[in-house]
Amino acid sequence: KLRSNIIACGMAVPPKILTNAELEKMVETSDRWIIERTGIKERHILREGEVISTYAVQAAREALNKAFLTPEELNLIICATLTPDFLMPSLSILVQKELGAINAGAFDLSATCSGFLYALSLADQFVKNNPTWKVLVIGAEALSRKTNWEDRSTCVLFGDGAGAVVVGASQEESGVLDFILGADGSNWPLLTLKGGGSAYFPFDERLPKEEYYIKMQGREVFKIAVRMMEKIALELLERNGLSASDLSLVIPHQANLRIIEYLRERLELPPERVFVNIHKYGNTSAASIPIALYEAEKEGRLKRGDLLLMVSFGGGFTFAGILMRW
Ligand code: ACO
Repeated sequence: KLRSNIIACGMAVPPKILTNAELEKMVETSDRWIIERTGIKERHILREGEVISTYAVQAAREALNKAFLTPEELNLIICATLTPDFLMPSLSILVQKELGAINAGAFDLSATCSGFLYALSLADQFVKNNPTWKVLVIGAEALSRKTNWEDRSTCVLFGDGAGAVVVGASQEESGVLDFILGADGSNWPLLTLKGGGSAYFPFDERLPKEEYYIKMQGREVFKIAVRMMEKIALELLERNGLSASDLSLVIPHQANLRIIEYLRERLELPPERVFVNIHKYGNTSAASIPIALYEAEKEGRLKRGDLLLMVSFGGGFTFAGILMRW
């Protein structure tokens, strides 16, 4: 049976690091509170004048190089993002142009923090129907642009970055085995970003500025997140006749270490089988899972043949899970 697989990964984050100590000078918070309540120690953020497409392109180039593919060989580029440089053209078009991917279609996908898994499941469909296709899937986010730096309950959480993977037909038994995409709009007001704007014109001065930032009722979001992450993970395992102990590695969306720990406990897995890098990057939304994938492979935590589960939740709410043989 033909499967799609991730051929190679890339990642790129802006060099500027914002530490908890620096946040202590900006809002009423402490390094200790942030670490205890979220697990985050620092995050990378764009400098004034920088745009996230720069890093999306960098991550894409790395993935292509590692896959031994040229940009001309790409058939499709999908960028998962809620913070593209412009509303038009899309982030994926900017990537297409910079790479010179002259034979590729390109579009953005908006599914908040689940965006990367949504995009990967789409790439899976395209490749299964067109086995020669190579699809570039990117998760890239500039959340610092949408962060209210006066709101301590949110500004400690987010970071910027990009991760990219190249998807193609699998040569062996490896690849995407199953996925779940979920959505539930009934609680959407708990997590919002109501104002639009691009990287270049972020505000319309006639509207209250707080509407241009991410607003969140953290405690309520937390409860939904833990419930849905567990549900998706267990459902995927059960319908594939697997138990959590069969998993080599779980890569959860990196939103809060306590959410990840809760999932790990529910799955009764030891720490080495659940990947965590939130301490370095914070929550980078759609970029969090591809960045984690990249690092997991680089650190030797993910090897060919491993059974991998990725799970995410995000504003909306959206949920997703992908089970794959690496
Ligand atoms: N520093 C110090 N104190 C703080 C801070 C801070 N940065 N933030 C909040 N507090 C205070 C609160 O004011 C509150 O004080 P009070 O008891 O006097 O009222 C106290 O800490 C506890 O606040 P809670 O909100 O209950 O803290 P909680 O333990 O729930 O942690 C957090 C807050 C980290 C936001 C948590 O709820 C969370 O992670 N929620 C999920 C967030 C998430 O994953 N969102 C997905 C976003 S995806 C996207 O938008 C791209």
